Amino acid sequence: MLETAERVDPAFREDVLAGLSAYIPAVPARWLYDRRGSELFDEITRLPAYYPTQTETALLKEILPDIAKCVHAGAAVVEFGAGSATKTPLLLEAINPAAYVPVDISGDYLRESAAEIADLFPSISVEPVVADFARPFDLPDSIAALPKLGFFPGSTIGNFVPRTGTDLLRSFRDLLGVGAQLLIGMDKVKPIERLIAAYDDPTGVTAAFNLNLLERINRELDGDIPIDAFRHEARWNDILSRIEMHLVARRDVTFTISGKSFSFAKGSSIHTENSHKYGQRGARVLLLAGGWTPLAEWTDPAGDFAVILAEALPNRFAP
Ligand code: AVJ
Repeated sequence: MLETAERVDPAFREDVLAGLSAYIPAVPARWLYDRRGSELFDEITRLPAYYPTQTETALLKEILPDIAKCVHAGAAVVEFGAGSATKTPLLLEAINPAAYVPVDISGDYLRESAAEIADLFPSISVEPVVADFARPFDLPDSIAALPKLGFFPGSTIGNFVPRTGTDLLRSFRDLLGVGAQLLIGMDKVKPIERLIAAYDDPTGVTAAFNLNLLERINRELDGDIPIDAFRHEARWNDILSRIEMHLVARRDVTFTISGKSFSFAKGSSIHTENSHKYGQRGARVLLLAGGWTPLAEWTDPAGDFAVILAEALPNRFAP
């Protein structure tokens, strides 16, 4: 009990208590990714219905020779997130950078994956940074003089609403500096049926991923939420161009978390994640608003997923 309490992030309690009391109940998506949540997400990426991971990986394999021609030689690659076991080695192999700096909030996971990369690429200096990339942090001094390439794959940008996504892109620009480049993956708008299928798979892995949040709350925040009182739902919000994950109450339900009582009426929901989908113009405007000028864009043959290379150009007077 004590041991558990010590490991709980105080921000998790604050976010859950404030989020479930809000007019539209919601919990920030980052809390879905504890150890169990990350395992379940990993399982999601292998589901046939969840196209983004396979599509982006296949696309990268295809286009990395082109990308290698556009990026600066001897760069430092700064990856926002711990790095995927397949995509990161593909990139490093293709561009052979001087340094690789993965940035992730989960120290254990980060050290494990950084060690694997260091083994695979003995000539690249691997310097992991434990930080929440959505908050200010510093890069290692050792890469100060190197050209920078940010790497932000997986359509993780889709988790952010455009306003905070723009803030995030601007913070990447401030961090990496004028002249830096950014390689970013963005999932595209497509027929609703395919989007829903990707976020509500028949095997129930995504449902388990979403419901795991309630189990985490019960475990870490001394909650007594009856898990079976909620079901997973994936909704398409057309005006905001995003998939939303919700936990919908199957019946009227009351429970406590850290001594605080909450009631949900049958059919009401807790909003747990957004996954924004972009068209070509929308993607480019988002990048430009964040201070990144698109240089090139690649898409898979079916047009499902985009990888964009952008550059942080100096400020200039607009005509
Ligand atoms: C990790 C945020 C890119 O939005 O597609 C997958 C998370 N949630 N299925 C996404 C997710 C449910 C995923 N991202």
